[in-house]
Amino acid sequence: MSKRYTITAALPYTNGPIHIGHLAGVYVPADIYARYQRLQGQDVAFICGSDEHGVPITIKAKKEGVTPQDIVDKYHAIIKQSFIDFGISFDNYSRTSAKIHHDTASEFFKTLYDKGEFVEEITEQLYDEEANQFLADRFVIGTCPKCGNEESYGDQCESCGTSHNATDLINPKSAITGKTPVLKETKHWFLPLDKHEAFLKEWILEEHKKDWKSNVYGQCKSWIDDGLRPRAVTRDLDWGIPVPVEGGEGKVLYVWFDAPIGYISATKEWAEREGKDWEPYWKDEDTKLLHFIGKDNIVFHCIIFPSMLKAEGSYILPDNVPANEFLNLEGNKLSTSKNWAVWLHEYLQDFPDKQDVLRYALTANAPETKDNDFTWKDFQARNNNELVAIFGNFINRVVVLTNKYYNGVVPVPNEFSAVDEETLATLRAFPAVIASSIERYRFREASQELMNLARLGNKYLADEEPWKLIKEDEDRVQTIMYVALQIASALAILSEPFLPFTSKKLKSILCHAELVEASTWNSISEGQELLPSNHTIGKAELLFSKIEDLDIQAQLDKLEASKKANEAASKKVEPQKDEITWEDFSKLDIRVGTILEAEKMPKTKKLLALKVDTGIDTRTIVSGIAESFSPEEVIGKKVTVLVNLAPRALRGVESQGMILMTEDESGNLVFVNPDNHNKVNNGLKIS
Ligand code: 2FM
Ligand code: ZN
Repeated sequence: MSKRYTITAALPYTNGPIHIGHLAGVYVPADIYARYQRLQGQDVAFICGSDEHGVPITIKAKKEGVTPQDIVDKYHAIIKQSFIDFGISFDNYSRTSAKIHHDTASEFFKTLYDKGEFVEEITEQLYDEEANQFLADRFVIGTCPKCGNEESYGDQCESCGTSHNATDLINPKSAITGKTPVLKETKHWFLPLDKHEAFLKEWILEEHKKDWKSNVYGQCKSWIDDGLRPRAVTRDLDWGIPVPVEGGEGKVLYVWFDAPIGYISATKEWAEREGKDWEPYWKDEDTKLLHFIGKDNIVFHCIIFPSMLKAEGSYILPDNVPANEFLNLEGNKLSTSKNWAVWLHEYLQDFPDKQDVLRYALTANAPETKDNDFTWKDFQARNNNELVAIFGNFINRVVVLTNKYYNGVVPVPNEFSAVDEETLATLRAFPAVIASSIERYRFREASQELMNLARLGNKYLADEEPWKLIKEDEDRVQTIMYVALQIASALAILSEPFLPFTSKKLKSILCHAELVEASTWNSISEGQELLPSNHTIGKAELLFSKIEDLDIQAQLDKLEASKKANEAASKKVEPQKDEITWEDFSKLDIRVGTILEAEKMPKTKKLLALKVDTGIDTRTIVSGIAESFSPEEVIGKKVTVLVNLAPRALRGVESQGMILMTEDESGNLVFVNPDNHNKVNNGLKIS
């Protein structure tokens, strides 16, 4: 009898594209798990969607001068495509701006409201008098009361991970105007987490002490030990799901109230499309509900959402919440604002057809128990030393030899030797070993076991040396190749959760889509013949190709460029000269000019003698730019000229003015000539 699984993956915010941290922390492990359970013949609903409410989306829209709907439409499409590109096999990828979600979340709120599960309270909230609005969540920045981070958000501190109320911040400032907010009264609805404390203690601290990951259990325990307080589940904002009860006008549901309900509405949408009933996936005690998330989402999925489900009364609770820690990139925290990231859509431009390589590198190095670092060198090594040298090499040898010796026909084996029996027995043990790792959410370990199976195949061929025996013992070679082909087939099946594109390609090379597809995970352990004698396989095709140092260097250069841009952006520019009056400034006569002629001054590396048309006259100006520009480069250039600077002699030439120069972010000398200089006539005054 198949078991029902509802597997959810955190709904990504649609205020930007997604990067390798998202893939490593949530979506690849969730996908491996879902694919594995499908291969076990289980009834799986793998659910996700875009999280389209919340303040960051409004902020982004304001910054870009577009509507929040424009922002979510744009990123929903990009994110959805990235998931398709990387083979994340959601049964449904929905979005929280969908009507079905608005209806489901409103109904959920109303049910809790009618049951008296909320506390209604008038409290003082931060208010920006200049922007005329309340400052919820990320609209306010201040010092974290727990760790002292001066740039904590109103709802969460990204430095220590603490989740708090905006009013808890020390020295709060509006993210809209930069002004210090005032306190203003407003009514909100609170979920009294304190009321659910006893249940949470029993359910998490007792029932799930052993089976939840220690990082998840530890965070929950510390939350519960600190004492749970009521959490506001509504906000004074205009982007979100309107509060559907009296007095809720002008207010919306808190994004963290509506987002997890998104899992339910996405399941409903999927069931409707598939002609299924959604309810057993959320209400039947026999269903296993699992939430795959990153560590910053633990409190919402382990404490707040379960309290909501419990308060509603008809839902099951998650069986497990296998949260991962964070992935860093080349030693630094992944950061969208600093562009310190490997964006999935950009990765695919640089490495088309290498989706599985990234999936594998991220799984083999997944941040399962602690934060981990992604390095391009490790990525290259995982590809070249494991996927190419072990997995790809084994398959290639088997397919090439089968074609060479038997025109691609799987040979009939003769008597198995002790080594063959032992190899086949080891092969039969792999599904259980890999399954056990996956079922304990140890995907790194599972991926290494998969590679061990390819190692087994390589070692078997290397030890049995069919290429040496082919002349003297044809019967023996038939058996060896038959065994090797069974290992190749097992790899085609067992690699599917980890390397779905490779698995598909391998199945097509083995030309046995029907049989291999029909074989389940367990057919291997049961010792079934995976690829029968007399079946003809296809020609060899490379599964993986080497990644060169140059390709890796290009990625490192990209990151270096981001680092430089960040340093330049964060450089504090201090005033260097004394203040001047308007009268002082008005003495400067600055004009647009054109360089007509240029030549190097003799006996100096630095100076160019320029003839400049200033619109007033054509004059000579000596400029110290010869180390950055050749005379040919500057002829014809529009420039900004200070024309009333007293003449002075430089190396015997009288210079009658000064060309204004500055430096770009890399410290190179550049002309001060805004784009529109080219559109105006010489002599135009700059003021
Ligand atoms: O942290 C995030 O990216 C959130 N958008 C995750 C939401 S998960 C769920 F509850 F919807
Ligand atoms: Zn903090």
